Amino acid sequence: MTIVVTGTDTDVGKTAFATALTIALDAFYWKPVQAGLEAGGDAAAAIAHGVPPDRVLPEAYRLATPCSPHRAAEIDGVAIDPARLTPPAVPGPLVVEGAGGALVPVTRDLLYADLFARWGHPVVVVARTELGTINHSLLTIEALRARGVPVLGIAFNGHPQEDSEATIAAMGRVRRLGRLPRLPVLNRATLAAAFADAFDARDFA
Ligand SMILES: Nc1ncnc2c1ncn2[C@@H]1O[C@H](COP(=O)(O)OP(=O)(O)OP(=O)(O)O)[C@@H](O)[C@H]1O
Ligand SMILES: [Mg+2]
Repeated sequence: MTIVVTGTDTDVGKTAFATALTIALDAFYWKPVQAGLEAGGDAAAAIAHGVPPDRVLPEAYRLATPCSPHRAAEIDGVAIDPARLTPPAVPGPLVVEGAGGALVPVTRDLLYADLFARWGHPVVVVARTELGTINHSLLTIEALRARGVPVLGIAFNGHPQEDSEATIAAMGRVRRLGRLPRLPVLNRATLAAAFADAFDARDFA
């Protein structure tokens, strides 16, 4: 079983949610393309969040510049081969994290959403709860569906905004899977507890 995690933007909490899900499902975590290596990247963050290192797969591409993968690859003189980004079979569930949002280019003629459509795996959209999220969330869901991507649901991240969350679920006709609250620290214990409290692992089975 493979679950893809995308988001409404960069920095919305995809890695926080994806690692909580990885821990909850005792899954493997994979970030196929890492653009920007200064902070160690999302694989390092996953390990810092408590995913066992042997459950974090190595990236297919590690690119130096923190920008869209299509451009980061050009700067590094690398040609991204989309075939290398296909989620591999692993002995257990796999959680795959995109980069930025759904319409971020992987190459100059391929968007993440196009890749997700090819893969056909269920996709979770991570969204902020702050002002602006209704627009970004509905746009993201519409763009995914327009490409035939199976949308499993939306996972919120941040302080509760009951009306925004309910409005997105209703108007986007999308399942609200839960909301990860702001956590003082992100580690295996806090993420596992927050996930168990706010999500139902069976929604991801
Ligand atoms: N629920 C939360 N509680 C506290 N801090 C959080 C939470 N969610 C995210 N953060 C922090 O916010 C920042 C951005 O989160 P995260 O790295 O998960 O975003 P992202 O969508 O994966 O970004 P990218 O597009 O770079 O992959 C990180 O510093 C992370 O530790
Ligand atoms: Mg991330």
